[in-house]
Amino acid sequence: MESSAPGKVILCGEHSVVYGEPAIAVPVTGLRCRARMAPAMPGSGLLLVAADLNQRTALRTAALDHPLAALARLVLEHLDCDEPDAVLTIHSDLPIAAGLGSGAAVSVAAARALAGFLGHVLSEEVASALAYEVEKLHHGTPSGIDNTVIAWERPVVFVKGKAPEVLEISIPLRLLIADSGFPAATREAVAGVRQRRESDPDFYEARFSRMGALVRMARAALEQQDLPALGRLMDANHALLVEIGVSTPRLEALVQAARLAGALGAKLTGSGMGGNIIALVTMEGAPAVAGALRDAGAVHVWQTVTT
Ligand code: PMV
Repeated sequence: MESSAPGKVILCGEHSVVYGEPAIAVPVTGLRCRARMAPAMPGSGLLLVAADLNQRTALRTAALDHPLAALARLVLEHLDCDEPDAVLTIHSDLPIAAGLGSGAAVSVAAARALAGFLGHVLSEEVASALAYEVEKLHHGTPSGIDNTVIAWERPVVFVKGKAPEVLEISIPLRLLIADSGFPAATREAVAGVRQRRESDPDFYEARFSRMGALVRMARAALEQQDLPALGRLMDANHALLVEIGVSTPRLEALVQAARLAGALGAKLTGSGMGGNIIALVTMEGAPAVAGALRDAGAVHVWQTVTT
């Protein structure tokens, strides 16, 4: 029994989405987390194996806040099933703590594999809701955008607390994703923004509402198939993310390199303070931008095309 889930990038609207503004996210279908269930000896219980991290944890003895164990317990409770005698093995292509949704992808893939092993299929809603509970362990106060776009595996317009709207994209959306090589904890980036907002609410509220307006314009640009306009809106979103203090010199170097090499737009993606940037490119322009990103220090450059 095997299941997989994609990574994700936020096209625009990170951070402001925590405060009720909309955001757009797209799945990264080429970077995936895979979860496999295999039967084990009777009485052995469920063993959780994070293969890339070389970690093996028995569900019975795992701490309450162990993310994979927490997810397994939530799935068993939801399905009203006993712990099976089995091994759940996770392999992931996704860098950890890099804004690409690694935690939510593990949760969604694992939930589906465990449920499948027990003879159940989880709907998008349920997979997303279970993963959201685990996101709270990772992130503290997550908006829910990661688990949503990853469980649906479709581009979404997301507003916290509301059902996601699937966005039909009728023009290929080509993004380069460049990894700064510096992981950063979402929990800390989000907490930092919250603290700064408390000491200067007017400044932060103004930026969040501008980000929300940019997201609405980005949606219109996508609907009108106007990629140059979308690129300009991504640049403007990045400028606001710089103002709320979540960029770093390394991320700036990558964003600048992408723009100079001809990207239509570039911005950090996810919580910032490290992690990845995205650059909107044309098919013809992609190789030059990818080369410039590598020259500027990106440790990985991936390409994803959403249609
Ligand atoms: O998990 P990340 O790093 O992609 O961050 C998620 C986006 C934030 O808006 C910063 C946080 C959230 O919960 O929406």
